[in-house]
Amino acid sequence: MSHPAAPFADHLIGRLQSVRSRTAELAAPLSDADATLQSMPDASPAKWHLGHTTWFFETFLLIPSVPGYKVFDPSYDYLFNSYYESVGPRHARPKRGMLSRPRLDDVLAYRAYVDEALDRAKMRGLLDLDLVSLGIAHEEQHQELLLTDILHAFSQNPLRPAYRSPAPMPVGSAPRAQGWMSYAGGEAVIGAPSGEKGKTVFDCETPRHRQIVPSFCLAKGAVTCGEWARFIEDGGYQTPLLWLSDGWEAAQGAQWTAPLYWRWTEEGWVTMTLRGEQPIDPDAPVAHISYYEADAYATWAGARLPTEAEWEVAATLHAVPGNDMGTDRLRPAVQRGEGISGLFGDVWEWTASAFLPYPGFKAEGGAIGEYNGKFMSGQMVLRGGSCVTPEHHIRTTYRNFFHPQKRWQFSGLRLARDS
Ligand code: AVJ
Ligand code: FE
Repeated sequence: MSHPAAPFADHLIGRLQSVRSRTAELAAPLSDADATLQSMPDASPAKWHLGHTTWFFETFLLIPSVPGYKVFDPSYDYLFNSYYESVGPRHARPKRGMLSRPRLDDVLAYRAYVDEALDRAKMRGLLDLDLVSLGIAHEEQHQELLLTDILHAFSQNPLRPAYRSPAPMPVGSAPRAQGWMSYAGGEAVIGAPSGEKGKTVFDCETPRHRQIVPSFCLAKGAVTCGEWARFIEDGGYQTPLLWLSDGWEAAQGAQWTAPLYWRWTEEGWVTMTLRGEQPIDPDAPVAHISYYEADAYATWAGARLPTEAEWEVAATLHAVPGNDMGTDRLRPAVQRGEGISGLFGDVWEWTASAFLPYPGFKAEGGAIGEYNGKFMSGQMVLRGGSCVTPEHHIRTTYRNFFHPQKRWQFSGLRLARDS
């Protein structure tokens, strides 16, 4: 009776259900008004994330593989297609905040409808398990985006609402991770093998390939808020010689004088967090900086940013689960210990590497081929995951990417230098 793939399929469907319900839980503290806000073109309304992730399953799993599947609402394809040219025309990204209709309740009903259809399709053995894995990973990406986007929206509100009530951060006894770790140079194997059963990787992490990585040192911890405050005091934001030309232009144009969300008060620096506005913790990793700021800081510190290959060499040796969405702190925490710390979690670490195809990379055909490949221009790689990255979503080969001037993600840096 039992199909050989059944245990794996059951495992995957279990994951699917828990990821789908977690997204709804993340949106639960939000009113329809909160969930409709779009504070800038980069950010999307929570309601849109809820709809788009659902649309992804409907479009790529249900419509192609369930005979006679009836879509929930034919107008949703236009509303919730993000960027898939092969699927068709779509609502303009900067205008997602105009979607006061459908109501939040309608979008939640859409979720329930698609979840039920997925369940029935699974019973009938109709689901392509690779696409289920991709849909799960996709939804996890949007869980993180939902939180970073609501943080941005709430930061624009003078009441500085807390997405979740403030909670004390853990107090550790080990010293803060400081100093350098050195790595012998040599031939490194970078990237993930493609098509390993039961292991989700994005296409951009493949092919696995060799690279020569000369010896290097990596900081044991990420750059902290206290260190960043010294960069500010030392005139870092007023010293053009520290900056890349494009970075200086971006910094001047937007009048950057501190990380996004930092505000100077009589009591010192405060920063907007998902738990409301809070004093900065000088020992916690700095977040919400652009690649350009990270690069300028590294220059000021007499160091540089690591390449993604260097980062991966280090992570292969000592990545352990860190402060990710699973800890529920929702903000970066002090990185402690004698060794290298916090490679996973806290903040995404900007690398010196452009988001480019690995040697031999080939995007898939069709709409799924649009997932990552077409963004391989003008963006930089970030590694390691943040305090709002779902815990199953982080791995040593993972390549996140954003444009170098973007600051609203939990993006920070870890220094490197030659050895
Ligand atoms: C990898 C985070 C840049 O935000 O568009 C979401 C993730 N890909 N849906 C993005 C993604 C498709 C992607 N980033
Ligand atoms: Fe998406």
